[in-house]
Amino acid sequence: MTDAQRRAIEELWPRFGVEEGSRIDAVSLFGRSLPLAVEVGFGNGDALLQLAAAYPERGFLGIDVYPPGVGRLLAGLAARGLDNVRVLRGDAVAVFEERIPESSLDAVYVWFPDPWPKKRHQKRRLVQPALVALWARALRPGGTLHLATDWEDYALGMLEVTGAEPRLVSPAGPGRFAEGPGDRPVTRFERRGRRLGHGVWDLVLVRRGDQGSPASGAA
Ligand SMILES: C[S@@+](CC[C@H](N)C(=O)[O-])C[C@H]1O[C@@H](n2cnc3c(N)ncnc32)[C@H](O)[C@@H]1O
Repeated sequence: MTDAQRRAIEELWPRFGVEEGSRIDAVSLFGRSLPLAVEVGFGNGDALLQLAAAYPERGFLGIDVYPPGVGRLLAGLAARGLDNVRVLRGDAVAVFEERIPESSLDAVYVWFPDPWPKKRHQKRRLVQPALVALWARALRPGGTLHLATDWEDYALGMLEVTGAEPRLVSPAGPGRFAEGPGDRPVTRFERRGRRLGHGVWDLVLVRRGDQGSPASGAA
């Protein structure tokens, strides 16, 4: 961690940081009700900074375990005068298990999660049935889960796992990737993957309405 990142955490955590504790929703984070999106594994935070500037009427929560990235994001928020992002340093699995209420989110973003390319490490991959079920539960009907990766076998695994989650439906058609990234900003790991000659796969799923039909008004 650089000195600037360490200083950013010391000085800015009280303003943007989310402490351990109870239920997380827009009111607990921002003191008012507004559409809320969560980015899981924001890395250096660049995508969140771009989204927060582009959509000032929305709230964003970034979750990551990586301290230098937390420091960098905090410094970026202060430098740009953005107040619609909150930052949680911790394990996203526990946060979704314990703190995010059902049907409360407009979007969940998981962009370029650690690929764990070696076969024997693949069980460490984040996109697994149990966590996809937690994301589906946390989304409101019509809310979106947006996944992206530059590893083809992970992309195919994401299709399989999300296709088996009954609360999610793919607007592109069953078993199909999204046509492109939509309004997803280009991320640091995406740029790195492209430099290495990797392809990029985006997958967008919509949380069905409670009657089992796809809800309209996806975020
Ligand atoms: C490969 S990086 C991608 C970062 C960013 N999304 C990008 O595209 O540049 C994956 C990130 O996920 C974070 N991460 C991994 N497991 C996590 C977990 N269980 N909870 C929160 N963050 C996690 C890592 O710390 C890392 O910053």
